[in-house]
Amino acid sequence: MTAPLRIAIAGLGTVGGGVAEVLLERGQDLAERAGRPVKLVGISARDRNKSRKSDLSSIAWFDDCRALATIDADVIVELIGGEDGPAYELVKAALGARKHVVTANKALLAHHGSELAALAERNGVALKFEAAAAGGIPIVKALRESLLAYGIDAVRGILNGTCNYILTKMEATGQSFGDVLAEAQKLGFAEADPTLDIGGGDTAHKLALLSSLAFGAAPDLSLITVEGIEHITPEDIGYAREFGYRVKLLGIARRTADGIDQRVQPAMVKAGTPLADVEGPFNAVVAHAGAAGPFFLEGRGAGEAPTASAVIADIMDLARGDVGPVFGRPAGTLKPLRAAPPERRKSAYYLRFQVLDVPGVLAEIAGHLAQSEISIQSMVQRARSPGEAVSIVMITHESPQGAVTRALNAIAASDKVTGRPCMIPMEAG
Ligand SMILES: NC(=O)c1ccc[n+]([C@@H]2O[C@H](COP(=O)([O-])OP(=O)(O)OC[C@H]3O[C@@H](n4cnc5c(N)ncnc54)[C@H](OP(=O)(O)O)[C@@H]3O)[C@@H](O)[C@H]2O)c1
Repeated sequence: MTAPLRIAIAGLGTVGGGVAEVLLERGQDLAERAGRPVKLVGISARDRNKSRKSDLSSIAWFDDCRALATIDADVIVELIGGEDGPAYELVKAALGARKHVVTANKALLAHHGSELAALAERNGVALKFEAAAAGGIPIVKALRESLLAYGIDAVRGILNGTCNYILTKMEATGQSFGDVLAEAQKLGFAEADPTLDIGGGDTAHKLALLSSLAFGAAPDLSLITVEGIEHITPEDIGYAREFGYRVKLLGIARRTADGIDQRVQPAMVKAGTPLADVEGPFNAVVAHAGAAGPFFLEGRGAGEAPTASAVIADIMDLARGDVGPVFGRPAGTLKPLRAAPPERRKSAYYLRFQVLDVPGVLAEIAGHLAQSEISIQSMVQRARSPGEAVSIVMITHESPQGAVTRALNAIAASDKVTGRPCMIPMEAG
């Protein structure tokens, strides 16, 4: 066998603890598959005295994670998290010291991906991140290496397990968003501060990376429009079911005639299609690979074992000598994406208005929609309750987002309309 691949891990929490355990317990099998031993030689975390899942007492400990960049290691595995701070400093130091880096840190790469890719390339080392997008699903490798022949037209997916868990639970129980979120936090399915998850930011980080791989561009968060799931009500989910759809938070990057359309938003996904059927904390990605057609991958997007599995896959690639470019092509050739203007996006829309049940309200809404040339495919107004607030729900024919938004702004200004109208795009699945 050739020389061992020496690994150092920074961060021994959920993911780092899992990776250390696999390296220690399955080392023999990994060595046989890689054709060389894969050896854990250094570790760092915040608290040396914290009890860890595995016995790590024989592995060299470093209080300052940045010191790992200076030791005799071939690969630094960054599993601390955060877009800046110690994770960023460590990765920069490691790449600068000509050490390969493996990370699960989507925030870091979404913010600093092109700079770090260039640094890796200048130093002739790899920066791998399979675990950073959709956890255990091997979508990074698929987009970087497997689906090249015909190019990628679109990548769409459910990339945040917390949101999918909340939406699935709201559908199953009829509970409100707030109640399900509180329950998810108690069960450990949602963070104490869930903002990044429920607001769509985490999905945007992952989408920026997938988009970069798919379209040969530098990751650029500023080009992604982001909307979370906080405003979704059990009523919306109930209507979705009635119309034959399910509400999912999607990350979508799609090539259009106007440029690349990138967005994170709740969408009504046609029931019975693969994305609509993704339940609970699972993630899934559909990659539309030109003439090769769509590919659908589903699996666990988070948690110790799925994420550790993706990190180990990157380590195994490095053990076999695969040090290809970070985003699938040389960093210098990553172009800025030409972003499609959001107002020109075309979709059918679900619209829900909270209105006072008074004469003329429907005519007023219809008038504003007609003025913006939006035609209605179907409409539901359930119970009548004169003088009280009731919901009116409409599905439009395919229309430009800008025109729908204009009409909704005019409708929202009416004294017969209470609250902000809800607008959710329909997705074929
Ligand atoms: N958890 C998942 O399911 C999942 C899925 C996909 C991607 N990721 C990504 O994986 C990364 C790690 O996530 P995680 O869930 O494993 O986080 P975690 O459980 O909170 O663990 C973080 C680890 O980093 C250590 N740490 C914090 N500050 C440090 C510092 N200055 N120097 C050295 N170590 C430091 C902590 O030390 P102590 O243990 O001593 O406190 C802890 O071991 C993040 O980028 C995350 O986005 C996680």
